[in-house]
Formats: sequence, C-alpha cells, structure tokens
Amino acid sequence: MLILGIETSCDETSAAVVADGREVLSNVISSQTDLHATYGGVVPEIASRRHIELVIPVIDKALKDASVTIGDIGAIGVTYGPGLVGALLVGLCAGKGIASALGKPLVGVHHIEGHICALFLTHKRLEPPFICLVVSGGHSSIIVVRDYTKFEQIGQTRDDAAGEVFDKVARYLGLGYPGGPAIDRVAAQGDPCAVNFPRVRFENGSLDFSFSGLKTAVINYVNTLRQKHGSQLPPPVVADIAASFQQAAIDVLATNTLQAAKSMGFKKVAIAGGVAANSALRAKMTAEAAKNQMDVYIPEPVLCTDNAAMTASAAYFRYEKGMISGLDINAEPNISL
Ligand code: KG4
Ligand code: ZN
Repeated sequence: MLILGIETSCDETSAAVVADGREVLSNVISSQTDLHATYGGVVPEIASRRHIELVIPVIDKALKDASVTIGDIGAIGVTYGPGLVGALLVGLCAGKGIASALGKPLVGVHHIEGHICALFLTHKRLEPPFICLVVSGGHSSIIVVRDYTKFEQIGQTRDDAAGEVFDKVARYLGLGYPGGPAIDRVAAQGDPCAVNFPRVRFENGSLDFSFSGLKTAVINYVNTLRQKHGSQLPPPVVADIAASFQQAAIDVLATNTLQAAKSMGFKKVAIAGGVAANSALRAKMTAEAAKNQMDVYIPEPVLCTDNAAMTASAAYFRYEKGMISGLDINAEPNISL
C-alpha cells in the first residue's frame, strides 16, 4: 500500500511516498530556513505563502522520485495539527483536493504521531510498546507508545519546549537560526563541564520538564560575561557555554526518559523530533540505554526534523485500522495527542 504524505505544519514543505508504513520511496523536503533567517525565527505569514508556491511542485517531485504516478497511491496522509494554522491549511487543502479529485481515502495525521512513526522507517523491526521521548520546537514529552496508533503522554514540559530553548540560547549567543544545529556544531568544540547550569527535575516521581530556568541561567551568565569583557565573546568561551547548556538540557531529557522506562519496566526506549537529531543527545541516550541493558531506537537525522515520510508512515497505520478522515477535517493548531 503506497501512501502519499504531505507535511506543512511549520517551515518545511514536504511530500513523500512510503510503502506499507516502513519503506521510504521518496521524501522531498523544501526548507524555508533562508527565508526566515533574516527575522531570527519563523514568520507564519511568510511560511504560508511559501507553502502555497511549493506544495504542488514538491508533491510532483515526490511522485517522480518514487517512480510512481498519483494513480498508484492508495491513500493520502496529511498533517492536520498541531502547528501554524495557515501553514497547516495549505497541506491539508492540497491533500483534500487530491483525495476528492481521485476518490482516494484521506488520513489526517497528528504531527507528534508522525514524529514517533519516523522510528518505524529507520528501524524496520521495531514494534510497540516502547517509551519515546519526543523533543521538537514545540514539544518535550515522554510518551508510552502502546500501539501504532495508541499513545499515552506521561511527562511534558511545564514551560518551554527543548527545541525552543536551543533556538533562543543560540540566538542569544549570536549563532543564528535555526539554533539547534548551530549549538550542536559549536558545542562540539567546547567543554560541557565548563559551566554548571541548572538541571531542573520535579519531585514525587514526576517526569515533567522545565527549561525556562536553564534558559534564564544561560542568558544571565552571558550578560555577566559581556559586562566584564564586552559584547563580543571569544569563540572558545561561546563554545564552552553552548556545550555546557547542551549538556544540562540533554542530561534532564535522558534522565527522565530512562526513569520512565525503568519505573514502567520497558526495555525499549526511543527518541524522536527535531532535537533527536542532536549528536550529544543521541550519544547520551545510546550510552545510558546500554548501561541499563535497554535497546535504544533513534530515527536517522533527516527523519528527526520535519518531513512527510513520517506523516505517510503514521497515515498507513491509521488506515490499517480504518481511521479515515472526512473531507471536512480542519486544521487544528493546538490539538493534543
Ligand atoms: O521537529 P522539528 O523539525 O519541528 C517542530 O515540530 O518543531 O524540530 C525543530 C526543532 C528546532 O527547535 C531546532 O532547533 C531543533 O529541532 N533541532 C535541533 C537539532 N536539529 C534541529 N536541536 C538540537 N540539535 C540539533 N542537531
Ligand atoms: Zn516537528
């Protein structure tokens, strides 16, 4: 069964063709990073306009790269939320149009469900249940993946999402946008023990996260240094701050995820979402899981950040269970999993 996936929830216009929820035949991702970099973040109106220009050419390319025609497609999977409402509507309208014109089933996909299903594309034999940390620009959640379409959130951020904090700290350090990959790159040159930034954890076994204190601590630290040494900090100092911030963030992410797996008796842990592309987080989760005799699953980096292959995979598992959407499905910018 071939699914055409469409993903336009933020600043990537993406379309993909996936077979049986597991095999990527094509995955076209057109990033708008350059357009938004001038503004230091995603400008929703600009994102929507660019999606309109790109969505059909990107779908055409996905079909061409997969060497299939639209007639070969069994169903259309499209992200309907959460995300930027104007951006979501572009992909959703394209999906509805194709489904309606060709009489094919339409499957609305939750963006976070898509991020989780990226795991099934990289790890062909992975099956639920397992514990998954989902870390992106908008989410930091620990989720029990009970089944391909059944998810239970057992921990979440009480303030900022992890990716959001990577982006803000990067901006403050003058590393540009998008911040996560920049921190990852610069941190590789720094000492993660140079500054002991706070690692916030809650009592009574809570698996929740809080990153706003860490963000403020980094900003205060940078301000103090700038007052002493001037606004232009030497690159080695910036690298040490980036590495120390990154270490504090990933320590909490990994600790809570491992605690969740241990307390619930899971031997399989996974990470997904844009921040799962972070090299230090990948290394830490791999090392910690090995120490605890657990298996770790991480999508390849290109499937961690937003892409439509993950959407197509999630749509396949929904389709299998008869979870088809009506053509009246609307964009849901704030829908929970
Ligand atoms: O999943 P995603 O592509 O979009 C959302 O659903 O939000 O995640 C984007 C987030 C951004 O905050 C970006 O800075 C972060 O993922 N990110 C990273 C890395 N690559 C992307 N954060 C840390 N290290 C990376 N290598
Ligand atoms: Zn995402």
